[in-house]
Amino acid sequence: MTDWVKTAWRNKPRVQMPDYTDARALNAVEAQLAKYPPLVFAGEVRTLKNDLAAASRGEAFLLQGGDCAESFAEFGADTIRDTFKVMLQMAMVLTFGAKVPVIKVGRMAGQFAKPRSAPTETVNGVELPSYRGDIINGFEFDEASRVPDPKRMLQAYTQAAASLNLLRAFSKGGFADIHRVHQWTLGFTESDEAEKYRDMANRIQDALDFMKAAGMTSENNHDLHTVDFYTSHEALLLEYEEALTRLDSTTGATIAGSGHMIWIGDRTRQPDGAHVEYCRGVANPIGLKCGPTTTAEDLKVLMAKLNPENEEGRLTLIARFGAGNVEEHLPRLVKTVKEEGANVVWSCDPMHGNTVKSASGYKTRPFDNVLKEVQEFFAIHRSESTIPGGVHFEMTGQDVTECTGGVRAVTDENLADRYHTACDPRLNASQSLELAFLVAEELQKGDTGKAMAATA
Ligand code: PEP
Ligand code: CO
Repeated sequence: MTDWVKTAWRNKPRVQMPDYTDARALNAVEAQLAKYPPLVFAGEVRTLKNDLAAASRGEAFLLQGGDCAESFAEFGADTIRDTFKVMLQMAMVLTFGAKVPVIKVGRMAGQFAKPRSAPTETVNGVELPSYRGDIINGFEFDEASRVPDPKRMLQAYTQAAASLNLLRAFSKGGFADIHRVHQWTLGFTESDEAEKYRDMANRIQDALDFMKAAGMTSENNHDLHTVDFYTSHEALLLEYEEALTRLDSTTGATIAGSGHMIWIGDRTRQPDGAHVEYCRGVANPIGLKCGPTTTAEDLKVLMAKLNPENEEGRLTLIARFGAGNVEEHLPRLVKTVKEEGANVVWSCDPMHGNTVKSASGYKTRPFDNVLKEVQEFFAIHRSESTIPGGVHFEMTGQDVTECTGGVRAVTDENLADRYHTACDPRLNASQSLELAFLVAEELQKGDTGKAMAATA
């Protein structure tokens, strides 16, 4: 992009970013990060974009998921492994429903910075600046922790690099071999969804036995042995993003080196704001959160800015309206996309419009509302004859109690048991898998629709 420089966002209005008080310390961190290797490479970013292009045409399906906010305290191999494992399980279930490849993108290895609804929070009469994610300040409720510290960016970079290293090893080193399907069961024993999962696993095993008999094995077929797994995060902390921006020497394109895909949040999508300015200039796939206040006019401008060449796979619109609100908001955006002839991937985030405060005081999300929003999203796309291209979840492989409901029901009273999130409530492993089955059912309905249209 010729009319763009990576620092231009600095001249635009910025929201949701910290005011660092020590400019010298900030500059030193930026200089250091600028020298570090990028976390992702241009070739990978291009492959993901091609995969997403297929999703925009209905030839692939996007599964994006992971923590609301990664934290320094929860960092460890087991958490990464378990989230990766649940995403593979979900992907397998979705592949079965969608009959197309599932693109796996973690909210991982960089998902550290958080936009907040209020600049301060008050606990027992004490008012302090809000927690903004471990890359910015500390979660502890004391004055010193809440001061934004630029050095946290270095720790976030290190954690992201180590996370990616493990994810690459899992993806390519044999852990993700499809033949291990029975070992992915995570100890589910008596629940209904475990039964459905075992049934599906058995059917996949039958297919693999057949393929083996026909001479196709992991040894001679690389695709059965490895998966492609990508990383993503909200590009919120632009000092960090700018410092990790790199030029791809083969194509001359500029890449955000911080993750394969980055997205713009619902609170930072001002068409003339700093976040849109940064994101428009990097060649990575870009996600754009679309909420109840996204107007058709804004969307038109944003699509023109973020995807001027109307490139397939460049832009993913992530709808997050809340259960019961999809019909009111999604059709006007679908209409705008149609009118503009824009190539987009339509993805559904059924988390961020469904956050409520439970009677016990915890921030939670009722599983039924999460499911309902997904169903509403699919219904609108069926009636508009547009393509539902993906889903976006906040989830973890751990057995947490943060969202209520699901077949292994988490109740309001249970929330206190294992409420570990640093920010928004996540689906636990069991709820994530259950949701994957329900999304697979929606995808199959779409198939029936297509089949009926073809025979009509
Ligand atoms: C998020 O994805 O964590 C988030 C803050 O979402 P949104 O911008 O849609 O509110
Ligand atoms: Co969140």
